[in-house]
Amino acid sequence: MKKSVTTFANGKLKGDKLTMLTAYDYSTAKLIDSTGVDAILVGDSLGNVMLGYEDTISVTMEDMIHHGAAVARGAKEAMVIIDMPFMSYQTSVYDAVVNAGRLMKEGRANGVKLEGGVEVADTIKAIVAAGIPVMAHIGLTPQSINSFGGYKVQGKDEMAAKKLIEDAMAVQEAGAFAVVLECVPEKLATLVTSKLDIPTIGIGAGAGCDGQILVYADMMGMFSDYVPKFVKKFANVGEAMKEACKSYIDEVKAGTYPAVEHTYAIDDEVIGKLY
Ligand code: KIV
Repeated sequence: MKKSVTTFANGKLKGDKLTMLTAYDYSTAKLIDSTGVDAILVGDSLGNVMLGYEDTISVTMEDMIHHGAAVARGAKEAMVIIDMPFMSYQTSVYDAVVNAGRLMKEGRANGVKLEGGVEVADTIKAIVAAGIPVMAHIGLTPQSINSFGGYKVQGKDEMAAKKLIEDAMAVQEAGAFAVVLECVPEKLATLVTSKLDIPTIGIGAGAGCDGQILVYADMMGMFSDYVPKFVKKFANVGEAMKEACKSYIDEVKAGTYPAVEHTYAIDDEVIGKLY
């Protein structure tokens, strides 16, 4: 059965941990979907992982729709959430609703995610009023990397920790169905989780959150440009891919691939007439 906002509400209510992974293409989404994950995020991290940018700033609405629609075709059971890219919702509430609508209509998302707390509360309210589920994202918000001055843990002093709690309360009040907490000290994330009725999804925020999310290429060992402390490599797919490529090259050069079982036959009589 297709997972939805109800899955998230029930997860919080029953204390069942929620699981999310990113995906950016049909085949990976289909594979991840078959494992029973609750939701797939088409993150704007696709800028780093798929497009080779150094940050998420350059990612466009067209990028998100193109990759989002591919993921939506592969995800039969997991809820699909598509990130709103930089400047698709910060310019006005009107722009935000229009762009969130495009991610639903053209990207076939089941919900959208956007970054920010108190300052985007009115935007979240308007998108939710249009019938679009919103996942919020606070703590380290990569689209604001130039304001933060780098990828740093957030909420470490009293003022910043109080601001994080205010942000969490504001996005809940605005109607978000869940909130991502990125790069936040574990004890603070656990406290925020206990204060909220909506589930918290942690990434670099410890085990006290209601669920977890990771970038699939990080946890599979496929992306090595930058690996944050919170990433655990659950597999070494990158090395397996390199080994497979090397074996392919060796076999092609040795003439052992393709073998008979990989080729198509033709009657010798037909071939004979061609000489
Ligand atoms: O873009 C992304 O992949 C994200 C997750 C890391 C939460 O926002």
